[in-house]
Amino acid sequence: MKLLITGGAGFIGSNFIHYWLQNHPEDTVVNFDALTYAGNLENLKDIEGNPNYQFIKGDICDKELVNEAVKGVDAIVHFAAETHVDRSIMDSAAFLRTNVLGTLNMLEAARNNGNIRFHHISTDEVFGALGPSDPAFNERTPYDPRSPYSASKAGSDHLVRAYFHTHGLPITISNCSNNYGPYMFPEKLIPLFVTNLIEGKPVPVYGDGMQVRDWIHVTDHNRGVEMILQKGKIGETYCLGGNAEKPNIEITKLIVAHLGKGEEMIEYVTDRPGHDRRYAIDFSKAKHELGWEPQIKFADGLASTIDWYVNNEPWWRSVKSGEYQEYYQKQYG
Ligand code: NAD
Ligand code: DAU
Repeated sequence: MKLLITGGAGFIGSNFIHYWLQNHPEDTVVNFDALTYAGNLENLKDIEGNPNYQFIKGDICDKELVNEAVKGVDAIVHFAAETHVDRSIMDSAAFLRTNVLGTLNMLEAARNNGNIRFHHISTDEVFGALGPSDPAFNERTPYDPRSPYSASKAGSDHLVRAYFHTHGLPITISNCSNNYGPYMFPEKLIPLFVTNLIEGKPVPVYGDGMQVRDWIHVTDHNRGVEMILQKGKIGETYCLGGNAEKPNIEITKLIVAHLGKGEEMIEYVTDRPGHDRRYAIDFSKAKHELGWEPQIKFADGLASTIDWYVNNEPWWRSVKSGEYQEYYQKQYG
């Protein structure tokens, strides 16, 4: 198999490439990534000499380049996106461009080059927000996105389904909950809080800290994507979740305690506008149809993730200082 991975220099995409090459060493992986602020080739340093791995610096909105890149590929796994909710509130245009128009471009290239198998990576945020006793999201939950980020992801999901119904493109979609693990950009809750605490800075908890997310280790997510590629039904959507609903303040206190810090480091700050109160995923379809369920317990996964940041200080320091981007600017322009 030859796989084209978009967004492979980001958090989940780079973990996916590691996972795939470890478990399918005979396959070839092409990483197509624009190296935005969130793309970092340091995440893939250990495999850059692997003859079965190739990197193309490119924007998914670049029609010609995408059309060339997909030639001869057996499957596309589409991770590339603008992903941070707070950034989407400050500047929505980049989200619409990459997430909607970029996805459209990927779909067109897949269709025009022999109807390439297309797996689209999406999020549980497209379903909106749950009340405390609402049932968890599943594949039949109506879409109700509430941030520019989730609205743009919802738009991309609709387009992917439209290409299946209209053009017969062999697609699948996964809607996953909050990932955590190595190489996560330190603007998101867990890596931001871990690295702030190591730097001796306070951690900013939005509002009352009682917003609930369902946390999944990135390896469990990527194993789910692998199973969908292997056994998923064409045209179908699969919800993937971690079975680990936690309020933000509970996670914050766990991180503070793991690093041996005091709770005076917790600072309650102004809430995120339109902050979704709760997400939860019912993954019974993936369990029954694919035999998938998350395997990594949240307490173990969180501890190993915190330790990864402790042991990989040069990685996140270069990300936080912006050093890694200066290097790419010199190398790729
Ligand atoms: P990330 O922000 O860490 O990485 C995104 C990657 O996409 C970066 O490498 C970036 O350079 C690349 N990219 C952005 N715009 C591009 C463009 N125009 N052309 C080519 N490459 C571009 O993101 P992530 O957290 O790894 O998320 C990956 C995917 O998973 C996204 O589609 C996201 O919506 C989805 N998702 C994320 C989570 C989560 O918790 N992080 C949960 C569910 C779904
Ligand atoms: O649910 C899946 C989504 O999870 C993905 O689609 C997104 O790409 C990913 O960014 C993530 O979105 P969230 O908004 O849930 O993640 P974030 O890490 O930004 O925030 C997690 C929770 O922590 C959320 O309730 C907001 C809160 N938070 C976040 C930050 C950065 C804080 O309280 N303080 C902070 O500084």
